[in-house]
Amino acid sequence: MKDLIPVTIDGHTRLCGLIGNPVEHTSSPAIHNTLASIYGHNLVYVPFKVENGYIENAVDGAYALNVLGLNVTVPYKSDVISKVVAIDDLAKKIGAVNTLVRVDGGYKGYNTDILGLERALKVAGAQIEDEVVVILGAGGAARSAAFLCAHLNAKAIYVLNRSLDKAKNLADEVNSDAGREIVTPLNISDWNVIPYDSFVAIQATSVGLSPNDSEVVLEDEGFYKRVQFGFDLIYRPATTTFMKLVEKYGGKSANGLAMLLYQGIIAYELWNEITVSEDIAKQVYKVLEETVKP
Ligand code: ATR
Repeated sequence: MKDLIPVTIDGHTRLCGLIGNPVEHTSSPAIHNTLASIYGHNLVYVPFKVENGYIENAVDGAYALNVLGLNVTVPYKSDVISKVVAIDDLAKKIGAVNTLVRVDGGYKGYNTDILGLERALKVAGAQIEDEVVVILGAGGAARSAAFLCAHLNAKAIYVLNRSLDKAKNLADEVNSDAGREIVTPLNISDWNVIPYDSFVAIQATSVGLSPNDSEVVLEDEGFYKRVQFGFDLIYRPATTTFMKLVEKYGGKSANGLAMLLYQGIIAYELWNEITVSEDIAKQVYKVLEETVKP
């Protein structure tokens, strides 16, 4: 456990922040200000609520004010792309940027939500390459998961959604990008047509989110018997009904808090050109856990 060194704001203090609307419920300041205190970096991270129509001014103003980096949240993850001077390949593919890194002449855009999910899966011991992945949901979070799993060369990906048309659209997009039919869209109730007995399941719907803790998007015992690893992108509650069912039938499970942690850690690494060790990641995780407690 590293001692924390409080930041003294002076003439050298660097500023990072979050732009979005709303921003009041964010946990990102806990991640970045804890990292700054652990490393003794003279850096502070603050949320900025940006009103509709002001995103371009916000990015220009941040650059003018020598802001080192920004996270971008709802509803600006797509809109901000028109303001970046460079963009990471994966962020470009999925059309969403959540991190701006200061470079000459402006900001480079990254998607550390995806990179954070990748690191969280790896740390949890869930292998994706050559594995079958079942994604529950076809919204924004599911989209990130589907592009990531295709990028990591999953053997096959099934996107299961209540509205089949959304699953089909997502499948078309990922398949055309991958140049092969890697994603199959299905109605959630048709899960049993999946021709594999064992898979990784990623729960990317909003069902089961606190306070609706007892809800789960799919209850069939047969489905859970096939889940070797179940990753719920929800982290409030810490153990969702989906996770309980995965564990009940012998699979391993994890919630989405590590994804939140690593999207922040990767942004901090990009801003400060460092690599954060797993020991330090664990220390920040504990702070984050306290922050998100209901
Ligand atoms: P996010 O950005 O968190 O992914 P989203 O884009 O609103 O949020 O997507 C929410 C996902 O949860 C969708 O897949 C949605 O299914 P539909 O596309 O059919 O709306 C899914 N979802 C939300 N409530 C649901 C419910 N009661 N039953 C099944 N799926 C639900």
